[in-house]
Amino acid sequence: MNTKETRKKIEVCFSPYLFPLFKEEFEIIVVIDVLRATSAICAAFNNGVESLIPVSTIDEALEYQKKGYLVGAERQGKIVEGFDFGNSPYSYMKPELKGKSVVLSTTNGTKSINIAKESGQVVIGALSNLDVLQKWLSEQDKNILCLCSGWQNKFNLEDTICAGAITDYLVNTGNFRSEEDSSIAAKYLFLSAKDNILGYLKASSHRRRLKNLNLNEDIKYCLTPNLAPVIPVLNGDKLELVKEEVSL
Ligand code: MLT
Repeated sequence: MNTKETRKKIEVCFSPYLFPLFKEEFEIIVVIDVLRATSAICAAFNNGVESLIPVSTIDEALEYQKKGYLVGAERQGKIVEGFDFGNSPYSYMKPELKGKSVVLSTTNGTKSINIAKESGQVVIGALSNLDVLQKWLSEQDKNILCLCSGWQNKFNLEDTICAGAITDYLVNTGNFRSEEDSSIAAKYLFLSAKDNILGYLKASSHRRRLKNLNLNEDIKYCLTPNLAPVIPVLNGDKLELVKEEVSL
């Protein structure tokens, strides 16, 4: 166990809007968008997608489409007309995507990735890769920030609970410390939710939004831990899997 002085930081930023207040101090930024961007990204890599290019705008997505890429685009939970798919994890589990490089643009998640990338190493976090990600993070000996994508710069519960799980795990290793109240609050939310995450999020805003779009299967997938044990990291403009093996 490290002494208080040598412990690395694990903190939580509730929304991209608050990111400028945190961004100077962290070497690794875990971008989280549980419903659904980062869960879809983990599902894609778990299905054998080679790389995924996250873009912020529909114009950028169109440019890639013109170059012949398969492109997913989502706004307000819906597939953007003219694109190959949206943001459902199930769209990325198709055999024809294995070994391919795909492009994705979403309302919040891919924007957060692009906001974070100037400040540190971007890693993708979701409930679906929780255990393997926590283990990998615990071995990095770096200051880590969990950036919750939220909804249009607002706080959301599911990303905060995922960030709280990561914070709880890393602090319990004895090698990390949290000082911000946002990190403590995220940890407490995770501890209250962990035995029934689906039930805890029943009234949450984006769960309701997706339920109204008949996306219940997506909600269940995204809120079930460890279905896609992969660690996508940003390398230049592309997400790729980390090279090293992680054993749990
Ligand atoms: C996003 O990036 O805003 C979300 O993943 C929205 C969605 O559920 O499609």
